[in-house]
Amino acid sequence: MTTVERDGAYTFDNGAPDAVPQMHALESFLDPITTRRLARPVLRAGATCWEVGAGGGSMARRIARAVGDEGHVLATDIDPTHLVAEENLHVRRHDVRTEPPPGDAFDLIHARLLLLHLPDRRRVLRTLSGALAPGGWLVVEEFDCTVPQRVLTAPSDDAAKLFAQVMDVMMGVLEDHGADLGWAQDVHTEMALAGLTELDTITHSQSWAGGSTGTSLYETNSRQLEPDLLAAGLSPNQLSAFRRLLQDPGFAVMSYHFVSTRGRLPG
Ligand SMILES: C[S@@+](CC[C@H](N)C(=O)[O-])C[C@H]1O[C@@H](n2cnc3c(N)ncnc32)[C@H](O)[C@@H]1O
Repeated sequence: MTTVERDGAYTFDNGAPDAVPQMHALESFLDPITTRRLARPVLRAGATCWEVGAGGGSMARRIARAVGDEGHVLATDIDPTHLVAEENLHVRRHDVRTEPPPGDAFDLIHARLLLLHLPDRRRVLRTLSGALAPGGWLVVEEFDCTVPQRVLTAPSDDAAKLFAQVMDVMMGVLEDHGADLGWAQDVHTEMALAGLTELDTITHSQSWAGGSTGTSLYETNSRQLEPDLLAAGLSPNQLSAFRRLLQDPGFAVMSYHFVSTRGRLPG
């Protein structure tokens, strides 16, 4: 398993086999929450929308259904391997860090779990705000990785300690790749500074039991980042024990805190 080089580029590799279960786990956890956040008045039939860093494309497809035949959705990603075009859903390879926005009059721009990975996230947020139509909405959603993932139940104290240790190292690896673990808490303020109004932010977290789709996200991430985790001092035995723990029905943990912020360009 490889990761992209450390030049401020995205940490994970969309072309790697583990990217598929990673995207499925994210989508099954987050799509219901995001769908509620995009409900009317944010998303309406006939709207022109941009799904940035669309990943597996599930939200782009949901948005395309919501806007209907009169609407348009553009799904972009630096690696659009998993994106499939449909009638009113267009797909394009696009690097949001280096290329100009693919339009300047979007009624909705949605970016989920993207900006926290980008070192120039503040500049990119300004770029996204500048691509809105008057009255258009920007919805930015991130994990707040500064909140410790609280273990609720574990087969032993050592198991709970191992979970905390591996997650600590994993967060360090993400930071080394340029992620800002606390960026989720800055988005509301940054949107206000960009001139957006009608701002609101919610946070969602829930328990994840061992063997669930939620805990599978940690397992997949531990495989995707394995070379970095070993280089940071974890042993292969610790990683194996971590993965066994994530399958244990006696284990439960609070999920990542998911922060969703919406703002609107004055009309
Ligand atoms: C963690 S995934 C999230 C995918 C999707 N937004 C979701 O929430 O299901 C981040 C996505 O952002 C894309 N990405 C990373 N850097 C990017 C860039 N500079 N421009 C566009 N997309 C980028 C990645 O390829 C990946 O598909």
